[in-house]
Amino acid sequence: MCGIVGYIGEREAYPVIVKGLKRLEYRGYDSAGVALRDGGLKVYKKQGKVADLEEYTVGKDLHGHIGIGHTRWATHGEPSDRNAHPHLSNSGNLAMIHNGIIENYAQIKQELVNKGYTFKSDTDTEVLLNFIEDIQINNTCSVEEALRIALKRVVGAYCILLISTDEPDAIIAARKGSPLVIGIGKGEHFLASDASPIIEYTKEVVYVNDYEIAIVRRNELILKNLGNEVQTPFIQKLDMELAAIEKGGYEHFMLKEIHEQAETVHDCLRGRLLPDQGKIIMSGIDNHLDTLVNAPRIVIVACGTSWHAGLVAEYMIEELCRIPVEVEYASEFRYRNPVVNKGDVIIAISQSGETADTMVALESAKEKGAFIFGVVNAVGSSIARISHAGAYTHSGPEIGVASTKAFTGQLAVLTMMALKMGYAKGTITSERYIHLMQELHSVPEKINEILKDTTAIQNIATKYKDAEDFLFLGRGYNFPIALEGALKLKEISYIHAEGYPAAEMKHGPIALVEDTLPVLFVATKDTYYEKIVSNIQEIKARKGMVISVATEGDSLLEDMSNDIMYVPEIDELIAPLLSVIPLQLLSYYIGIERGCDVDKPRNLAKSVTVE
Ligand code: M6R
Repeated sequence: MCGIVGYIGEREAYPVIVKGLKRLEYRGYDSAGVALRDGGLKVYKKQGKVADLEEYTVGKDLHGHIGIGHTRWATHGEPSDRNAHPHLSNSGNLAMIHNGIIENYAQIKQELVNKGYTFKSDTDTEVLLNFIEDIQINNTCSVEEALRIALKRVVGAYCILLISTDEPDAIIAARKGSPLVIGIGKGEHFLASDASPIIEYTKEVVYVNDYEIAIVRRNELILKNLGNEVQTPFIQKLDMELAAIEKGGYEHFMLKEIHEQAETVHDCLRGRLLPDQGKIIMSGIDNHLDTLVNAPRIVIVACGTSWHAGLVAEYMIEELCRIPVEVEYASEFRYRNPVVNKGDVIIAISQSGETADTMVALESAKEKGAFIFGVVNAVGSSIARISHAGAYTHSGPEIGVASTKAFTGQLAVLTMMALKMGYAKGTITSERYIHLMQELHSVPEKINEILKDTTAIQNIATKYKDAEDFLFLGRGYNFPIALEGALKLKEISYIHAEGYPAAEMKHGPIALVEDTLPVLFVATKDTYYEKIVSNIQEIKARKGMVISVATEGDSLLEDMSNDIMYVPEIDELIAPLLSVIPLQLLSYYIGIERGCDVDKPRNLAKSVTVE
């Protein structure tokens, strides 16, 4: 969380930084600020979005060719002007921005208070900054040296950018656990949390590694480790177009990303799923097939929407490969001392590849000898890099805070994985293997059919926009989709929603049912169809309002439901890739009807890089 941008070069830094912060706003948006180096240091910061900062800086002196900027997701200290970054050190000689958490800040703060330091904010960042300043004064050393000494003492995660009056032509940066990309231009450098602020200026980038310090000047980039040894920067070419991070005529990124799904799933399958040849080619799996197929068990770790994709994968892998699968919330798995044995396979699912809980869970499982397979969207991200092997979802940059196209990308990868493993293991017949490949191949076209006309979904959104609660129910492969539908509605529209296995309803949630409660059933034609029809009857008998996601042409459900959304017919194992789409749209349109900021819902951030 938190987006950081830095610029050094011939251009005016402020417009580059503000544009970059807008691109990173999905990472956090409770306050924003910039520090510019122009002789001295000028700091402007404001609670609210980047647009509020822009308004605040009208008429101010914004000149400077070196600058750093920040868009915040609060951890230490409420969102406010004084807690916004950048922070200035007590002497006013250093300005710093930070993404991450300094866990031992309280102890360091006490030591600094005892020495007479004062603090204007409640942040851990201001503590680290003054700690660096204190070291610099005591050791009469450079900022870089002081930073190196400070970081050896610091516990936690950070990506920091520092500018100083002592270093007229440099930005000093460091990372551990929070991402940092440096774009290399001609006589200029760009620093950012991800490549989106950089892409329009240069495609040559360096991903800074953990425990590295970067000294960035107009014409020079020096990378060092914490032992002060110079590291060779690995320059990579960005495979991303500017259009991918713009709205492209849609009102919101979320809507654009929902509508992109036929294409993104197609991109994910392209060159990998070859039903005509009876083959699935995925090098990350091909190169480790024995390890995967012979795993005594598979543990899937993820958070949020990615965790829901993991639940679908559990059902698929157990059915097709007959390997026991557990699905764990990364945040629980990392702390509860789980049993992990050598040979266990851990599948980490993450859109951003930067989710702190998932990353730490993987690191500890890796230390215990597990084989780590990453299913990640963001190319070159931390999780992709620490995994032994993996498969990218190729969904393109996902900017809307609500995960949509990344989810269908994850499902597509996990389905191919389960199919490939099951076929190699001999736990599915070749007929079923080929049939499922063909069904998966038909998904992009069927997604297009759903997206062709969304009027019915928009009307349903208008009808239910004032609901206070929602219940989402599903069975089998559609149970995780019920959970995902509830999560989407909560985060986008702020309506309280719960997802449950439909049969579990009678063990508690049915007590909620009354004539004002919309109950959404994900009830496509599958093995459980008759059972879920009975569950619908149970809700109707108690006067609940039934909304169904049903298979095209299902007249029985049409008669039974107050409202209905259709998806094309498909094998039940592949159905989640379709049944989730109407739920994404429903949340989007309800959010819009309620006047919510759907791309930047309150309190959320896209990449949760803190615990
Ligand atoms: O980047 P990740 O997939 O690791 O992120 C996991 C969750 O934070 C994410 O899915 C979150 O739940 C989304 N806001 C859901 O829309």
